[in-house]
Amino acid sequence: MAASFRPRILAMQFLAAIAFISGIIRSSADDPPLTLDYYASSCPTVLEIIREEMGREVLSDQRNAALVLRLHFHDCFVQGCDGSVLLDDTVTLRGEKTASPNINSLKGFEIIDRIKSKVESACPELDAVLLVGGPYWDVPVGRKDSRSASYDLANTNIPTPNQGLISIIYKFFYLGLSVTDTCTCKPLGAHTIGVARCENFRTRIYGDYELTSGGSPLSEVHLSQLKSTCPAAGGGDNNIAPLDYETPYTFDNSYYHLLLNGEGLLNSDQELYSSLLALQTRKLVEQYALDPAAFFQQFSISMIKMGNLTNPDSFVDGEVRKSCRFINA
Ligand code: HEM
Repeated sequence: MAASFRPRILAMQFLAAIAFISGIIRSSADDPPLTLDYYASSCPTVLEIIREEMGREVLSDQRNAALVLRLHFHDCFVQGCDGSVLLDDTVTLRGEKTASPNINSLKGFEIIDRIKSKVESACPELDAVLLVGGPYWDVPVGRKDSRSASYDLANTNIPTPNQGLISIIYKFFYLGLSVTDTCTCKPLGAHTIGVARCENFRTRIYGDYELTSGGSPLSEVHLSQLKSTCPAAGGGDNNIAPLDYETPYTFDNSYYHLLLNGEGLLNSDQELYSSLLALQTRKLVEQYALDPAAFFQQFSISMIKMGNLTNPDSFVDGEVRKSCRFINA
């Protein structure tokens, strides 16, 4: 699959403009595979529009890039990248939004609605799920929207923060993604930006955080801040802390430095470096901590691979959703 790597760092934000937008339709079930220029003739400005709108969203709130990036991941790990995560519950369809990894946690649906409406006005009557890579990598496009969602797969396929390394690698492997993809996609590739809620890091900070971080004075200060954000005795479940406290809104490799220091916020993050089984991933963490360019390049590759997870059913009976939130009547 052709892909161009354009890893760049924007000073303050990572414009991970991955958007699930109703864009332009593939005309038949045996359309050519996903390509980079799928929309070149039907809506040549669509990628520009999405980048511009996503840029605007990130300027209005830096966290928006993280929200959309995570939406992309949670979509792709359930039935492939088919927009199923965007579907609201109806009487006939149980969507994925209330599955345990998503409920009260996955956000950014309004961003998608807003961008979709811009695309619709520029290219009316041209629809379908369009997954678009942002300024840092190009994602081949041309999918159809699924007519289904899977609450059950959302519960089983999406890794959870307290899972061990082997089971996380298995979940990636099951979908055809390698150990390297796990290591780059997961922590820094994604967790270099954004936040987590207390209920997802409580076990970690009252568990082995002190052990992995070696109790250095700086780590102790940070740990006590985390503990005041997230009390042990319950309460404050929705209080948030940055996944990468050094540079929470910058897409950089400092997250790998945190892992080297034993300060990963989620158990699943720190596992990549500290697990007894982390033979291969530990080496990758060390490599990416030293060499940001290697990380950016591999991140692009992993994101493209993840974005290429397709839903075979959507190729056959996928559709062009009029609204991202509902299948067509
Ligand atoms: C082992 C795999 C992964 C696990 C266990 C995991 C888990 C989590 C958890 C628990 C949170 C915090 C959610 C909350 O507290 O509400 C989070 C946030 C986030 N995750 Fe992951 N994640 C994984 C992989 C990924 C991947 C592959 C991506 C993207 C490619 C990603 C992108 C993000 C982003 C950007 C955020 C911050 C969202 C925000 O600020 O609201 N994660 N992740």
